[in-house]
Amino acid sequence: MLLHLGSIRTLVASSAEAAKEIMKTHDLSFCSRPNLTIPNILLYGSKSIAFAPYGEYWRQLKSLVMLKLLSNTRVKSYKKVRENEIDLMIQALGESCGTIVDMRIIEEHVNKKKGEDAESNEGEDFVDILLDLQKNHDTSDFTLHRDSLKDVAAGTQVFINAWAIGRDPALWEESNEFSPERFLNNSINYQSLQFKWLPFGASRRSCPGLQFRCACYRACISKYRLQV
Ligand code: HEM
Repeated sequence: MLLHLGSIRTLVASSAEAAKEIMKTHDLSFCSRPNLTIPNILLYGSKSIAFAPYGEYWRQLKSLVMLKLLSNTRVKSYKKVRENEIDLMIQALGESCGTIVDMRIIEEHVNKKKGEDAESNEGEDFVDILLDLQKNHDTSDFTLHRDSLKDVAAGTQVFINAWAIGRDPALWEESNEFSPERFLNNSINYQSLQFKWLPFGASRRSCPGLQFRCACYRACISKYRLQV
C-alpha cells in the first residue's frame, strides 16, 4: 500500500511476498534508515547502529558490535552476570507479588463495561486500550522503518507490517489464535527466510541481538521453572 504522509511517500508491506521483495530481492536498495528529527536530536545525529543511514559508518559499527558485544562467544561470557540479574529480577517479582496488578480492579472494569453498549467504542479509556494491547498485539508490530536509497523509489519510506503478516489467514491456520504449538515440527523459525514471521526483521538491518536475547529468555525460563 502506498501512502502519502504529508510530502513523504510511504510504502507499507503487509504480505510475506512484499516483505521478501523488499528485505531480500531489493535489500540493498531498502537497507537505510530515514533521516528523522528525534533520533537526530537524541542520538547525536542518528549515530546509533539502529538509526544510522546505511554506509561505511554503519558497517563499522555493526562489525564492532558483533565482534565485541553480541557474538556467540561474548554472549556466553556474560553467563554469570546474566544469571545474577535474573535471580534479582525473580526475587523482585516474588517480593512484589500481589501488588503489581490488582486483578480485582481489572475484573470490575471489564464487568462494568459489559453492562454498557458493547458496540460503542466511545467510552474507551486507557485501561481498555492497555487490555486490548495485551490481548492482541506482539511486541513489535512493525520492524524499524527503512528508507530507499535507489532511483525509482528514492526518498520512499518503507514499513514492513510484521503484525499483518504474522496474522495473515493465507499463511497461518487460526491466524488470530495464540498457539505456540504451531511452531513445532516444521521449519518456521525467526531465522528462516520465509518472511512469514519477522519478530527480528530480516537481512542486513535485522536485529543483531538475537543470540543475546535467546540466552536471556532461556535462562529466565529455566530459572523460573526451577523456582516455582
Ligand atoms: C525480544 C527481544 C528483541 C526483539 C523482538 C527485537 C526486534 C528487533 C527488530 C524488529 C529490529 C528491526 C529490524 C529491521 O528493521 O528489519 C531490531 C533491530 C535492532 N536490534 Fe533488536 N530486538 C530484540 C532484542 C535486542 C537486543 C537484546 C539487542 C542488543 C543487545 C538488540 C539490538 C538491536 C539493534 C542494534 C538493532 C538495529 C540493527 C540495524 O539497524 O542495523 N535487539 N530489533
